[in-house]
Amino acid sequence: MTPAPHHAPSSVPSSAAHTGQPAPLSTPPSEARNRPSNPWWVDAVIYQVYPRSFADGNGDGMGDLPGVIAQVPYLQRLGVDALWLSPFYVSPQHDAGYDVADYRNVDPRFGTLADADELISTAHDAGLRIIVDLVPNHTSWDHEWFVEALAAEPGSPARNRYVFRPGTGDNGELPPNDWSSIFGGPAWTRTENPDGTPGEWYLHLFDTSQPDLNWENPEVHAEFESILRFWLDRGVDGFRVDVAHGMIKAEGLPPYAGFANMVKDAGDLPEFIDRENFVPPTPYFDQDGVHEIYREWNRVLAEYDHEPCLVAEAWVAPVFRLFRYVRPGEMHQAFNFAFLVSGFDAQRVTDAIQESLDEAAVVGATNTWVLSNHDTVRHVSRFGLADPTSYPEGIAAEDEQPDHVLGRRRARAAAMVELGLPGSAYLYQGDELGLPDHTTLADEHREDPTFHRTRNTEAPETGRDGCRVPMPWRAEAPGYGFAVGAAEASATPADPWLPQPEEYRALAADQQVDVAGSTFELYRELLTIRGELDLGTGAFEWSRFHDPAQGIVSFTVTTGGGKHLGSGEPIPTQTVLVLANMGASPTAIPEEYTAAVFSDDDALVNQQLAPDSAAWFMKQSAPEA
Ligand code: NOJ
Repeated sequence: MTPAPHHAPSSVPSSAAHTGQPAPLSTPPSEARNRPSNPWWVDAVIYQVYPRSFADGNGDGMGDLPGVIAQVPYLQRLGVDALWLSPFYVSPQHDAGYDVADYRNVDPRFGTLADADELISTAHDAGLRIIVDLVPNHTSWDHEWFVEALAAEPGSPARNRYVFRPGTGDNGELPPNDWSSIFGGPAWTRTENPDGTPGEWYLHLFDTSQPDLNWENPEVHAEFESILRFWLDRGVDGFRVDVAHGMIKAEGLPPYAGFANMVKDAGDLPEFIDRENFVPPTPYFDQDGVHEIYREWNRVLAEYDHEPCLVAEAWVAPVFRLFRYVRPGEMHQAFNFAFLVSGFDAQRVTDAIQESLDEAAVVGATNTWVLSNHDTVRHVSRFGLADPTSYPEGIAAEDEQPDHVLGRRRARAAAMVELGLPGSAYLYQGDELGLPDHTTLADEHREDPTFHRTRNTEAPETGRDGCRVPMPWRAEAPGYGFAVGAAEASATPADPWLPQPEEYRALAADQQVDVAGSTFELYRELLTIRGELDLGTGAFEWSRFHDPAQGIVSFTVTTGGGKHLGSGEPIPTQTVLVLANMGASPTAIPEEYTAAVFSDDDALVNQQLAPDSAAWFMKQSAPEA
C-alpha cells in the first residue's frame, strides 16, 4: 500500500502564502456540501473566537470585532462552518466579558453594533454561520437592573430581579447560606444601605461583580426572550448558553458545603446513581426548572426559518444528565465535556465516545466533540504532562512544565479522532496552530478572577489566563502580528493585553498556512475530507483494530449509499477508518484501505502506526445496483 500523506484538495488555491491572510476559497465550504435535510449545526465544525485574543483591528492591544472581520478569509480557508464568539457586549470585564452590563450593545473595546452587523454579514457572505454567547445566569453589577436594585428597598420589584436575602447571625452579619463561589470565596456579598449601614446580601455563583438573576421572576424570562430576538433579528445563527445548568436554584436555597469546579466537576456524586430519581448534588445547578427555560427559548428560535440553534455549556454529571438538555423541544447541542476531560488515554476516550453515543441515542440528539476552550488548559499543554489525563486548572512557572513537542504530536492525533467522529466539532482558536498555553506567565499579568479570589487562600488557583493569550499571526511582527490592522494604520501597535510566549513565534499563522506538514494544513486537510465525505453525518462503528487496553482507538465512519435525489443514480459507499495510537508500541494498519492522512510525517514506521499518532484510511465500495 502506498501512503499518500498529504491529500491535496484540488479546490484550494495556494496563493497568499505566509501572510496569515490567505485568499478566500472560491466555494464556501458549507455551500459545497450536499445535505438536503439536516439542520446546518448537526455536523458543523464551529470555531470559537475569543474576541479579546483573536485579532486586534485598531492596535490597542485588545482583540476586537474589526480584527475578527479581517481574519474571516483565514477561517474560510481553514474550512470551518461557523464561528462562536465569546461575549463582546458592554462589560466592565471583571470576568473577561462574562459579566454583561448591556446585552444589546458592543463594548467600545471591541467595536460598535455596526461592527457586529458587519461581522455577521461578512461571515455569511463567506459561507460561515455565527453563534453568539448568551450569559443568562448573572449580569454584571454595572447592569442597569443591578444598579437599580442596589438603590431600591429590600423586597422591591427591582431587588426581585436578583437573589437578595437577609443575612443570618444575630445582626445579619453572616451570609444567608454556606454556598461557595465557583471562583473561590463565598457566593454572597453584603450590600450597604444608602445610609451606610450594612444591608441585605446578594447571591453570585461567580465573581462578586456577577450577581445571579432570579429566574423565578417572569420579568427575567421576558427580558431574555427579547434579547434572543434582538440578536436573531440581526441574523445570528445561534446562541452558546453560558452556565446553562445554572439559573434555577433549589427551593429554599438549601445548604451545600461542597464545591463545584468549571467544566470538570459538577459537585460530589453519590456512589450509586439512580437514573430515574437522580437528585443533582449541587442545589444551584442542573435543577429541573432550567429545562422549562429552554423549552421557551426553543419556541422563540423556531419562529425563525434560518435554523438557529442553542448550545448548552452545562457541566453536569453523569453524562445522561447532559443529554436532558438536548431532548426534543429544548436545546440543539451541548458541549461534550466528558470527551474534553478524557485526556490522551484510549480507555477514557473510548468510554466518553461510547457513553455519549449511547445517551444521545436515548434522546434522539446528535453529538458534539471538543478538546479545548477558554476555560481549560489547552490540550497541547495537557497532553504534554507526565500524566496526559491530568486536568490542571492552569499551569504556572513553578508547576510541572509540559513537553509541548510531545503534547502537540498527541494533539494532532487527537484532532483526527475529534474530526472523524460523526456530529459537530468545536475548535478553540489556535487549536489549528497547535498552540500551547502560556505556562510561565508572570502573576502580574493575570486577570482571571479565580486567580485573584483564591491567591491568599489554602487552595490558590492559577486561573485561565494561560489559554487566553493573543493569537500569533505573523512571526516577525510586534506581538506576533496580533494587531492585524496595524500595517494599514502605520502605527506602532500597543503590546497585546497578555504577553505571548516565545514559542508562539514558530507557530504563527504565517509559518503554517500553505506549509506542508503544519498543524494548520493538517486541520485544513481533515476538514476538507470531512466536508467532502459528509463524515459528520456518517454511521459510526468501532473497528476491528479498536483495542483500548493496548492504547488503540479505532472506528469507522461510513457515508454514502442510497441514490441521488435528482438523478436516481446510486451513490458509492465511503468508509473512513480512524486509527489512533495512544499506546506505547507501534500498531498494525488496515491493508484493505488506502491511507489518506497521517497525523505526522513520521507516523508510519515499517508499515505500522507509531505511538502518539493517528491516521485516516479510506475505502470506497461500489454502489449497490
Ligand atoms: C463559563 C464561561 O465559559 C466562563 O469563562 C465564565 O467565567 C463563567 N461561565 C461565568 O460566566
